[in-house]
Amino acid sequence: MSRFWNEKTRNIEPYVAGEQPKPGQKIIKLNTNENPYPVSPKVREVLDQVDIGNLARYPETSSRIVREELAKVLGVKPGQVFCGNGSDEVLAFSFQAFFESGKDAKPLLIPDISYSFYPVYAELYDIPLKKIPLLPDFSIDVEAFCKEEQGGVAFANPNAPTSLLLDLSDVEKILKANPDHVVLVDEAYAAFSGQTARDLLPKYPNLLVTGTLSKSHSLAGLRLGFAVGSEELIEGLCRIRDSFNSYPVDTIAQKIASVAVCENEWVEENTKKICATRDRIASALSEKGWDVLTSKTNFLFASPVKMSAESVYTKLRGKGILVRYFNKPRINQYLRITIGTDEEMDAFLRAVEEIMEGKDA
Ligand SMILES: Cc1ncc(COP(=O)(O)O)c(C=O)c1O
Repeated sequence: MSRFWNEKTRNIEPYVAGEQPKPGQKIIKLNTNENPYPVSPKVREVLDQVDIGNLARYPETSSRIVREELAKVLGVKPGQVFCGNGSDEVLAFSFQAFFESGKDAKPLLIPDISYSFYPVYAELYDIPLKKIPLLPDFSIDVEAFCKEEQGGVAFANPNAPTSLLLDLSDVEKILKANPDHVVLVDEAYAAFSGQTARDLLPKYPNLLVTGTLSKSHSLAGLRLGFAVGSEELIEGLCRIRDSFNSYPVDTIAQKIASVAVCENEWVEENTKKICATRDRIASALSEKGWDVLTSKTNFLFASPVKMSAESVYTKLRGKGILVRYFNKPRINQYLRITIGTDEEMDAFLRAVEEIMEGKDA
C-alpha cells in the first residue's frame, strides 16, 4: 500500500495469472492453457522476413493485413474484425465500449464461475456486475441469463475453468432475450470445441465474439487477440482503442499473425492431436476415480475426489508439475489441468498415481 495510490488502485483486486517458471527451471507447465507445441514452420519462417528497419516506424494502427486475412478465413468483412494485444485487451476494450458504468446502470451478467478477468475489468471500469450461479453440474443457467434485467452479458464458451461447452442453440436463446445489449462470447477455446458463435453473426448485431491466437495457434507470447462482430460494434472498439493506445499490436506481431491466421490445416492437425491427448487423459483420470468434466477445450477440469485438490496441486508442484488450483467456493475441490504433449501428460499421470499411492515424498 502506498499513500500515492488513488482509491481505485487501493481497492482493486487484480487478476492473478498462473505461476511462471523461473528461467532455467525444469518444469512441466500445465497451468496456463498454453499450446505445448511450437508454431507452424511457415510462422517460424516469417520471422526471417521481418525487416528490423521497419521498427523505426510506428505500426499500422488497425492491424489491417491481419484483419483482412482473418476476415477471409472467417468469411466476414475486414470491418467486422478488431485486433488487440491479446484477447485480454480486446475484452477490456469491449467492457469499456459496451457496458454502462455507475451505480445506477443495469448490471452486466456473467456466470459466477468463469474467466476471472471479467470481475476485475468490471471493478476497474465501475460496471455493476451480477453473477449468475452455474447450475449444479457447472453448466451455464441459460434461463437466468434470459430472465434477469441486464445491461449486457459476457461469458466464455467453452467456459473456463469448467471446460464445458454451451450449445449454440442456447447461445442463441441468450442473444434473442437480450436484443438491446451486447452479448459478448469469449471464444478463447473455441478451436477445441468444434463450434463457434460466429455462425450467428449475420442474425445478431448485438453479438461480439472474441478469439485469440494464444491457444490454438501456439502464440500466447505474441499477444494477438481479436473480436468479430457487426461493423457498428467494431467501430465502438476502435473508438476506445484510439482513446487509450493507437498502436496496440506491434509491427512484428502483425507480420507473424498475418501468416498464422491462414494456417488452417496446421491448426486443425494440432487441435486434433491435443483433443486426442485430452480425451485419453480424461479417461485415465476417470478410471482412477477422478470426477472429470466433459472438456471441449485444451484443458481438463477435474476433481481427485478421494484426496483434497489442494494437496494434489501441492504434491504435483513438488514433483515439478504445475497445474492450476483455485481456492474459491464451489471449485476448490477441482484442478484445471492444461493438456501438454503426450510425454508431459504421461509424466503427469505417473505423478498422480504416485500421489494417490502415497509415494509423494
Ligand atoms: C476464457 C479466456 N479468455 C481470454 C483469455 C486471454 O487470452 P489472451 O492470451 O488472448 O489474452 C484467456 C486466457 O487464458 C481465457 O482463459
